[in-house]
Amino acid sequence: MFNLLSPAQQDPILSLSVAFREDPREEKMDLGIGVYKDSQGATPIMQAVKSAQHVLADTQTTKSYVGLAGSEGFNQAMTDLLLKGTAGYERSAAVQTPGASGALRMLADLMYLAKPITTVWISNPSYVNHKPVMEAAGLTVKFYPYFNVETKTVDADAMLDALSTAGPDDVVLLHGCCHNPTGADIRPEHWQAIAALAQKNGFIPFVDIAYQGFGAGLEEDATG
Ligand SMILES: Cc1ncc(COP(=O)(O)O)c(C=O)c1O
Repeated sequence: MFNLLSPAQQDPILSLSVAFREDPREEKMDLGIGVYKDSQGATPIMQAVKSAQHVLADTQTTKSYVGLAGSEGFNQAMTDLLLKGTAGYERSAAVQTPGASGALRMLADLMYLAKPITTVWISNPSYVNHKPVMEAAGLTVKFYPYFNVETKTVDADAMLDALSTAGPDDVVLLHGCCHNPTGADIRPEHWQAIAALAQKNGFIPFVDIAYQGFGAGLEEDATG
């Protein structure tokens, strides 16, 4: 069975990391993987994460299975962090996943289960795994223009123009904040315009918010 498989292409992010490690120059900086680094190139554990680990270690009473949706306390805290005070709060449902990539795949599988003909629109450029994860789930991927390389900002006109052609069989994947890889974020008035288009044409917005609090602030980053 396994001899039927052909070798997979090298992962572009990981092969860049290997190339970086093997580059003998001292004046080098690895921007390939989105993690914080200090001036020594180390990625320290945030104090808040350390403290939370201590609290868990001291208070956890079992290692038994949690429910299928993960930790209810975590899910509630995440829902509060992201949606409290919005119209979506009462209608929300939360599931904990192994990493954000796991969340992307679970949602992609859910969309395929619900409607196999779904097309997912992805920003050009986007997080490198968006396209392969959506396609691996059987969904079709299209790109919408996003970044103006001259001004280093979102090309809102081109984006809205393209999204005006998306309809009820479409899902539009948006970065909630800290757009990966450009760092250029959608302004509040353009979030409004996207919402108006979604209401008018029937597409479903799918917001990937991987970095809430790392941009303008916890509240501000959740504006979209
Ligand atoms: C926008 C976005 N979504 C999802 C992910 C995947 O996150 P994880 O490493 O938790 O799987 C990343 C990671 O870079 C990302 O930038």
